[in-house]
Amino acid sequence: MNASLAEFMSASQQRLDKTLHYYLKECSSPAPVLQQAMAYGVFNGGKRIRPLLVYLTGYALNVEQEKLDAPAAAVELIHSYSLIHDDLPAMDNADLRRGKPSCHKAYGEAIAILAGDAMQALVFHILATHKANLSTEQRLNMITTLSLASGPQGIAAGQALDMDNAHQPIALNQLLTLYHYKTGVLLSASVKLGLHAATKQADKIVNALESYAELLGTAFQIQDDLLDIECNTEQLGKPQGIDQVNHKVTYPSLVGVEKTKQKIAELVAQAIAALAPLGAKNHLLVELADYLLYRLQ
Ligand code: IPE
Ligand code: IPE
Ligand code: MG
Ligand code: MG
Ligand code: MG
Repeated sequence: MNASLAEFMSASQQRLDKTLHYYLKECSSPAPVLQQAMAYGVFNGGKRIRPLLVYLTGYALNVEQEKLDAPAAAVELIHSYSLIHDDLPAMDNADLRRGKPSCHKAYGEAIAILAGDAMQALVFHILATHKANLSTEQRLNMITTLSLASGPQGIAAGQALDMDNAHQPIALNQLLTLYHYKTGVLLSASVKLGLHAATKQADKIVNALESYAELLGTAFQIQDDLLDIECNTEQLGKPQGIDQVNHKVTYPSLVGVEKTKQKIAELVAQAIAALAPLGAKNHLLVELADYLLYRLQ
């Protein structure tokens, strides 16, 4: 990884962890086990790509970092909740997540479900109240973006389509639609959150960032499916081969591994090209796309 991206990543991760630490460890709950399960599902070595996208978008648009802390924490909490529920026996039935027993394995199904529920609600509390110099309109825009990305026009829809995927034939274009909802919308939302924290941007900048995120989101899920085939459980930190175990149709299962690799490279190249209107400030977003192309987990 390029040194400047590595530095930016580590600095933004520190800011993120500080915010998450406050809400998950310092604020108390009358149900300590719920709070422990939430922290367990969040502080476990995730790549933190979505909050990174919030901070990188903010960087590209000259936003003070302090305005990005709430949306960065919020989007990672939505993502982490979605993984806790995704691993449940009723969904992917995966026992390992980020190299540790999945939340329901460590805390039981009931607490894992509740931890996910509580994390979703906490997200909107953070966006509404986190101490930062954000206007009411900015907060409302962030809440609108993230609630849309999580609900029936977002992850929940994608996950519902994905549950069906195991039981009926599915064409490539339907699979890409499913990827858009289950994964793409949250990556797009991450960029939009950065935009909401910024001053009003020209349409060409908004469109450039949104196209970048959409293309990157599709590439990201296709690659996740490829890694499920090509990497081992230790590298992945989640059970290798689980898509096949669950009889999931995936991009590589439909077109083969070689065409899948070509498609990922194509999408990443398109994502990078889409950033052109941003000029020189796009360099870290370009580096992120390149870095994701070679990820192994
Ligand atoms: C995994 O996401 C689920 C997908 C949407 C593909 P990540 O690969 O970002 O998972 P973590 O956060 O690094 O564990
Ligand atoms: C992404 O799909 C799921 C979410 C949106 C939570 P996967 O089910 O493939 O994600 P992993 O492979 O378990 O991380
Ligand atoms: Mg899944
Ligand atoms: Mg899964
Ligand atoms: Mg997967």
